[in-house]
Amino acid sequence: MDIFKIAHVKEAPKNGMKLVKVNAFEVLLVIIDGNFYAFVNQCPHMRYPLFFGKLEGQILTCGFHYARFDVKSGKPL
Ligand code: FES
Repeated sequence: MDIFKIAHVKEAPKNGMKLVKVNAFEVLLVIIDGNFYAFVNQCPHMRYPLFFGKLEGQILTCGFHYARFDVKSGKPL
């Protein structure tokens, strides 16, 4: 497993999303109450960028076909 420094904690919102690049990959950081969750920035359905989705609490909704994911577990709802 490789480890990359991708952002400073001070740059991140307390609650929200931040898109960062790691080599050729886009990583979506989702920050909830100061906890960080990292996802490949692609919806598993049709690879639409999850960054354009909507975050409500710990639920991330894809902006394309509205698939919903629990950010804390990573599981689809
Ligand atoms: S691309 Fe996200 S739900 Fe279809």
